[in-house]
Amino acid sequence: MDHSRAPVLDALQEYRKRDHLSFTPPGHKQGRGVDPRVLDVLGEDVFRSDVLMMNGLDDRTMSGGVLSDAERLMADAVDADQAFFSTCGSSLSVKTCIITVARPGEKLLVSRNAHKSVVAGLIISGVDPVWVHPRWDAEWEWAYLPGPEAVAEGFARAPGARGMLLITPTDYGTCAAISDVADVCHEHGVPLIVDEAWGAHLPFHPGLPSWAMDAGADLCVTSVHKMGAGLEQGSVYHLRGDRVDPGVLSMRADLLDTTSPSSLVYAGLDGWRRQMVEHGHGLLDRALGLTAVARERLGGVLRVVGRDDVVGPRKADDHDPLKVVMDVSALGFSGYSASEWLRSRHHVDVGLADHRRIAAQITVADDEGTVDRLVTAVADLVAHAAELPRSRPVDIPAPGELELEQAVLPRAAFFADAEHVPAAEAVGRICAETISPYPPGVPAALPGEVITRPVVDYLRSGRAAGMFLPDPTDGDLDTIRVVARGAV
Ligand SMILES: Cc1ncc(COP(=O)(O)O)c(C=O)c1O
Repeated sequence: MDHSRAPVLDALQEYRKRDHLSFTPPGHKQGRGVDPRVLDVLGEDVFRSDVLMMNGLDDRTMSGGVLSDAERLMADAVDADQAFFSTCGSSLSVKTCIITVARPGEKLLVSRNAHKSVVAGLIISGVDPVWVHPRWDAEWEWAYLPGPEAVAEGFARAPGARGMLLITPTDYGTCAAISDVADVCHEHGVPLIVDEAWGAHLPFHPGLPSWAMDAGADLCVTSVHKMGAGLEQGSVYHLRGDRVDPGVLSMRADLLDTTSPSSLVYAGLDGWRRQMVEHGHGLLDRALGLTAVARERLGGVLRVVGRDDVVGPRKADDHDPLKVVMDVSALGFSGYSASEWLRSRHHVDVGLADHRRIAAQITVADDEGTVDRLVTAVADLVAHAAELPRSRPVDIPAPGELELEQAVLPRAAFFADAEHVPAAEAVGRICAETISPYPPGVPAALPGEVITRPVVDYLRSGRAAGMFLPDPTDGDLDTIRVVARGAV
């Protein structure tokens, strides 16, 4: 296929050249109605390119095939059978995949390190999760993705399960053995969905971990805005093989999708595909080289998590080096304080921050200057270690203690009559809300699970140490929303 084309961008250019006059949404009419103060900040071009897809960029019946053409090119670029653009992030794409593979009440194996958007998909759909638990690493106090044995054991518990949803890479850059897990799913005749929100760049360089489609997944969800260069919310999900019916996938997607997708977001996805096909290898080569330099320089001032720390038996299967995870625990302060200090003193924003780590992602957008600024800021952080507040202890649960009993379906608990009880009194009660330390946004407790003392202690001590909990009704977790007695 001719990858020098970018159908959405080309159509936008044409639209502008032909000087269309619209009497349709968007009501700003290519910026004419926008407050000049908004234009001052966002620029006129944003509005000039914010155009309806149907009866705008394309005609009334979409006969020009602008979107389908762009999606075909995307699929070809990454060796998928079909690709689908979405404008509400992987958060929506994972929901589409869940309701495509399983019906309400049916079972789906789900890796328990799932992002909260997956849990939201389970709540909305009424799908019954069969949790497959990650492998806990007590030294690093984090979890690796479940391997094929755990998945096989999941199918043994739920022989009728409709498929499996695996999340890889993690926000920490650790990766699962996708092809082994795919084999187990396929032996059971069901599809593997991979939530590869952090892996949109993987197809474009052989030095990076394997891309889910190449590893045998049937459906794969990516966030192009995370490790790629798309606009925020730009997500693509991909299909390969015949275990998932593309017609059903489109129909279920239509249930959730907006009828007013953003041409800006689509254009970002389209242009990124062209850039990756034409220059991806070189750009990612450069990013990998920069990362090696960053890792070496950062390793001179603090502990950087390397491949050898996380890849091995009972650990991760692979590692994305572009996620540079730094352990600050030996310096006496938390990742939360480190992140805040870097932001306020150096205006350097890192991604993930937890009780002992920060993570910086290097992408095709970086260069020697940005890496130097990161290293300088982190070196300065270390030099000022004594000035940062001492980290407060977080009661990290022992291996297995984060594996809560799922007493009722997430959907049943979420919509049940509920009450708010003091956190200590929530022990033994059924959770009616999702409680996710963010980032990485993996719920420590979710609707339908029985709350335990170690989880309450972990979340409460974490909150006191600086953990951010955006989703429970009481973000300080003085109270927890639990299912009213006798309600389910
Ligand atoms: C594993 C995983 N899946 C899905 C999502 C949701 O992605 P998005 O922000 O594109 O909606 C995230 C977001 O961080 C994630 O980490």
